[in-house]
Amino acid sequence: MVIFTLAAAARVPLERLADPTDTTYIPRPDWYFLFLFQTLKFFEGPLEVVGAVILPNLAIACLFLVPFLDRGRVKRITQRGFAMGIVGIAAMGWSGLTAAAVSSTPRKVETSANGEPAVWAHLSPVELAGLGYFRKENCSACHSLGEGGSKIGPDLGSPAIRRDAKWMIAHFKNPQQLVPGSSMPPVRLLDDQLNALAAFALKLTPKNASDLRAAPQAAVEGAMLYQQNRCGACHQINGSGVKLGPSLNGLAQRRDKAWIEGHFADPQKFSPGSVMPPYKFSPRDLGRITSYLLQM
Ligand code: HEC
Ligand code: HEC
Repeated sequence: MVIFTLAAAARVPLERLADPTDTTYIPRPDWYFLFLFQTLKFFEGPLEVVGAVILPNLAIACLFLVPFLDRGRVKRITQRGFAMGIVGIAAMGWSGLTAAAVSSTPRKVETSANGEPAVWAHLSPVELAGLGYFRKENCSACHSLGEGGSKIGPDLGSPAIRRDAKWMIAHFKNPQQLVPGSSMPPVRLLDDQLNALAAFALKLTPKNASDLRAAPQAAVEGAMLYQQNRCGACHQINGSGVKLGPSLNGLAQRRDKAWIEGHFADPQKFSPGSVMPPYKFSPRDLGRITSYLLQM
């Protein structure tokens, strides 16, 4: 009954979809099967069938035969030395094999040194899109991001920058008006793109600037598409946006690439009754935004 209830009621967590190109993944069964996993290591090549099939089935057959083999009437444990000896040996074998398997499991190689998701993955889509405009508008010709150097404009990663978004946007539109004699050219972008740029600039600290500079361009472009298409009007990522549709964090645990790409073209086909409008992305953009979402 307990197992039945658990199977019906408890949600079984799945790992992310298998990615054959991921060489850091360490395949291991759950703990209760580790002893079998370890047993398999003793049998190589054509002998594998012994460890995989013959031995486990022999053990099960023995359990079935116990009532027929053992006709003794004694029930007291202390007087059943032989039977208890077998139980003890089996228990020791199980623990020993499990311990050996646990100790031989390699430590997982994490993508970043401290096991945390990359720094850029914590940004909201708008902030990450702002990094995209920073790159696209070549702001780095005059501004460094925490790496120092002697460029014409101030280092945007330095703590000296204490402006608010309103000032920044007005400054982007017309630097000379706010800073007379400024050599910074006006930034010709739409209002919400300037907004993204300011959101990104405000997020910069001396600590995160160099990590953010290294954000992969594919994900950055995905965030730009996300921002341009106003997905944030219905979705949340990293807590930013509106919760009309599902939050898109952890999407990789629920959906695969093919599902997400098909869903963009025709949401109703994949989620009947969905209010999400269809999106027609070019194949390149589709790859960008899908890869961005899968990394969130
Ligand atoms: C031709 C060089 C040049 C380019 C290109 C340029 N800037 Fe500037 N920027 C400057 C200079 C010089 C200043 C300092 C004078 C001023 O504040 O206008 C400045 C100031 C700033 C400030 C204000 C810093 C502060 O608080 O004093 C911000 C923010 C800024 N730039 C962001 C950007 C962004 C984002 C881009 C890309 C869209 C960009 N800049 C492109 C030269 C440039
Ligand atoms: C009008 C609101 C709306 C907009 C705009 C919208 N979506 Fe959705 N989206 C939804 C709703 C509602 C669902 C849940 C039903 C479904 O799966 O279609 C959804 C589902 C999804 C899913 C599947 C999530 C899951 O957990 O299964 C993804 C991925 C997604 N949207 C991405 C996007 C992206 C990217 C954009 C912008 C290009 C976007 N959506 C724009 C409403 C919206």
